[in-house]
Amino acid sequence: MSDRARGRRLLVRDLAQLATPSGRDAPLRGAALGSVDVVNDAYVLCEDGRIAAFGAMSELGPLVGEVDELDGRGLSALPGLVDCHTHACFAGDRVDEFELRATGASYEELHAVGGGILATVRATRAAGEAGLAEALRRHRRWMRRAGTTTFEAKSGYGLDRETELASLSAIREAGGIATWLGAHAVPPEFADAGAYLDFALAEVLPNAAKLAVAADVFLEDGAFDVDQARRYLEACRAAGLALRLHGDQFTEQGAIPLAIELGARSVDHLEATGDDGVRALAASEVVGVLLPASALFLDRPMPPARALADSGAAIALATDFNPGSSFCESLGIVSSLAVMQLHLTPAEALTGCTVNAAYVLGRAGEIGRIAPGYIADLVLLDATDWRYLSYHLGADLIAAVVEAGNVTWSRVAE
Ligand code: NIG
Ligand code: FE
Repeated sequence: MSDRARGRRLLVRDLAQLATPSGRDAPLRGAALGSVDVVNDAYVLCEDGRIAAFGAMSELGPLVGEVDELDGRGLSALPGLVDCHTHACFAGDRVDEFELRATGASYEELHAVGGGILATVRATRAAGEAGLAEALRRHRRWMRRAGTTTFEAKSGYGLDRETELASLSAIREAGGIATWLGAHAVPPEFADAGAYLDFALAEVLPNAAKLAVAADVFLEDGAFDVDQARRYLEACRAAGLALRLHGDQFTEQGAIPLAIELGARSVDHLEATGDDGVRALAASEVVGVLLPASALFLDRPMPPARALADSGAAIALATDFNPGSSFCESLGIVSSLAVMQLHLTPAEALTGCTVNAAYVLGRAGEIGRIAPGYIADLVLLDATDWRYLSYHLGADLIAAVVEAGNVTWSRVAE
């Protein structure tokens, strides 16, 4: 704990409402997925960067000693939002491709002619370490203003030793949780995926494993096939990394069976998942991470979220923030899409981008809930009902962000 945090107390008082996923378990599934505790006319007391207590204002006893206060009148408090799937560490943009797609070019076609992911690889390699770190800090500011207090970010736009490791270091320095997406695409200097993986596993993995907490692979036609994905993930698991997969985004290539076989934390996307995949995932420990902003951005079908939730799968929600398939850093917008397009309830959406997302990142038990002992990460909505998170589509809804008991962004201070 920093000296700044020690002994410091922050009282968020007179909140119109406070909402948090119920209980202490993670990941939540079945009926528990939609179980949220709501307190009206509430307070949250933060101490030493953790939540010390919360409840109704009428139950708040006298506080002796120094306490900073934050006026919550007219506001609702939620746990700080957790974005468990982003590609925020990139340079440049793909606004030209965005325009081309509007006139008929598909995402897969642009990828096949060296655009898409490889266009961002060129920009990211060219940015240099300092330029890349600056771009990530800018993206991190956008995420914070959108209410995200914990973010995961993947490498995968370097695909050479230097830029992959610089990406993972920059993510850690920006306060993020780093995932090594060493198998995102085959860079042009390699003849095929096998030759690239020979290099990545021998030359990059040993250092990447010291910086990242997880590894990820893009298992898809035109990227890595199931055998290549298995080889990559097995090597990463042996190096101590948790496993994640981009799977069933455009086509079903066996991502769910592979994720289950290898004991992966999550399989992410699932826009192309059929009934067998839904059943298999529901019967497993693997979390399905749904990325509705990406499906919207690429005009793809939405993932079968309702079927997954109803069959008891553990699901989480994330932005997939990246320059090509989801230029959206807002979990508020993702929550709206979760209700409007995935047919989840506001409570299921909240669980998806708080406690279940924290579980995917290996942080359940300390973030994603308002509960005593949890890290004091909060987001205050400019709304008297917490369900505005999903209800108020695209709104400028965030009044303040609290991280580890410190106000890190506030509309009033801007
Ligand atoms: O999750 N599908 C693979 N990777 C990213 C997109 C990356 C990009 O287009 O730059 C995704 O959608
Ligand atoms: Fe992604």
